[in-house]
Amino acid sequence: MKDTFYVTTPIYYPNDVPHIGHGYTTVAADFVARYHRLRGERVFFLTGTDEHGQKLQRTAAEAGVDTQTFVDEMEPRWREVWELLDVAYDDYIRTTETRHETAVKGLLTAVHENGRDDIYLGTYEAPYCVACEEFKTDDQLNENGNCAIHDRPLELVSEENYFFRLSGYGERLLEHYTAHPEACEPESRRNEVLSLIKSGLKDFSISRTSFDWGIPLPWDEKHVTYVWFDALTNYITAAAYGQDEERFARTWPADVHFVGKDILRFHAIYWPAMLMAAGLEPPKQVWAHGFLTVGGEKMSKTRATGIHPKQLVDHFGVDAYRYYFLREVQFGQDGSFSWESMVARSNADLANGLGNLASRVLAMLSSYFGGEVPEGSPDAAGDLPATVADVVRRYDRHVAEMALSQAVASVWDVVDEANQYLVEREPWKLAKDESRRGELAGVLYAAAETLRVLAVLCWPVMPRAASTLWADLGCAGSVEAQRLPGAAVWGGLAPGTRSRRGKSLFPRLEG
Ligand code: MSP
Repeated sequence: MKDTFYVTTPIYYPNDVPHIGHGYTTVAADFVARYHRLRGERVFFLTGTDEHGQKLQRTAAEAGVDTQTFVDEMEPRWREVWELLDVAYDDYIRTTETRHETAVKGLLTAVHENGRDDIYLGTYEAPYCVACEEFKTDDQLNENGNCAIHDRPLELVSEENYFFRLSGYGERLLEHYTAHPEACEPESRRNEVLSLIKSGLKDFSISRTSFDWGIPLPWDEKHVTYVWFDALTNYITAAAYGQDEERFARTWPADVHFVGKDILRFHAIYWPAMLMAAGLEPPKQVWAHGFLTVGGEKMSKTRATGIHPKQLVDHFGVDAYRYYFLREVQFGQDGSFSWESMVARSNADLANGLGNLASRVLAMLSSYFGGEVPEGSPDAAGDLPATVADVVRRYDRHVAEMALSQAVASVWDVVDEANQYLVEREPWKLAKDESRRGELAGVLYAAAETLRVLAVLCWPVMPRAASTLWADLGCAGSVEAQRLPGAAVWGGLAPGTRSRRGKSLFPRLEG
């Protein structure tokens, strides 16, 4: 029985080096995965690389190396960037792995033998974009007659292919999205998908004979599997399809496939239909986010707008990086990156917001109580306990709805309120009056307890700062071992806990 929250990113083409657009999808998925872990769920978070197809074979040939050597050299660039960004995946799939070849052949066989002739031999001739690895229809061309995505000339490709009878799945797909509208989000993207289905689906070719860098069809080895059929299958390979039935049943269907809007059609139409044809359940949700743009253009290597995440992490730090993209971009819409807005957010929300709150509270605990968390009192905390409780509920709802920016913003409502609370209660004044020692203790307890909860709530966004804060407060165990909602219940910080004045969490940046 399914008991695992299964979340995926697209698998990336390793002929490119990663840029912040790729980082965007993966950090968002990592945030959601971490949030579900914090909720105590069993989570399986998958990412990886899409290593077959003509484009890779060509790029390798241009570089003068054999294709496997080429992908073996490129693929580590991706793992490195996920490490840099504190992405804690549970599994990393490469489509050149044997386990994947086995799963693709298994899925192909299941569809081929389903008794409905869903795979048949035919001839195909159409303009093909090698960069997309996709045959194009007229509405996908730009005014120059080039691929609308890459603005590259198309090649007329004609060959004998096996086809998948997608045209037979329109009805079932419509029924699926009517019964489960949440299976494709956001709503505007679902509407696009629905109108594509309603306008009539064409069969698509699932094999190629013009090159050999791919997985041979089990019944006709002259053909290699079309790279998209191969790539989509990664999501069931990693869930142990055809290899470990019990694990597959615990994991599949995926709870959410995060994708960019460019690859929605493959995920929301082709993929569920392929699964239906094999008698498998479609994913519970495909969530298509927008593009990151720089100076108004979609980021891409070919247009020289690609920024490597390291360029930002070196300057801002990984926590600020993760925070910025999650907070700044409305998940689902396009978002523009600018250095200036990243400096502004880091200074306002991190250095002056959470960072300042933490350093003030830890400094006062140290000066007034020798670092020891004092005894609190219920009436000293003002609205903080109620705000915390409310934010925990809102945070949960926003993550469930994938309103990721709102989720993060709600946590910062606590930061703002706690900073405001200190301004109003003026503990630095109370400290000057020995007779108000009890009041001072109450205020600092409430502030420190708020910080403790903030460390827990921030962990999915910024695991490093959260761990540092947790340790500086002197809390036992690790922050990632905490579980919501229990860990956010007011009063978890034990009086007598020994805190320490740490280094500032976020330095102020000059620009
Ligand atoms: N290999 C395929 C996906 C196969 S999934 C079964 C592929 N790879 S890709 O490397 O070209 O891009 C993958 C994803 O990167 C996009 O769908 C999107 O999620 C992300 N992005 C690439 N550029 C992006 C932006 N400029 N902005 C946001 N995300 C972007 O397509």
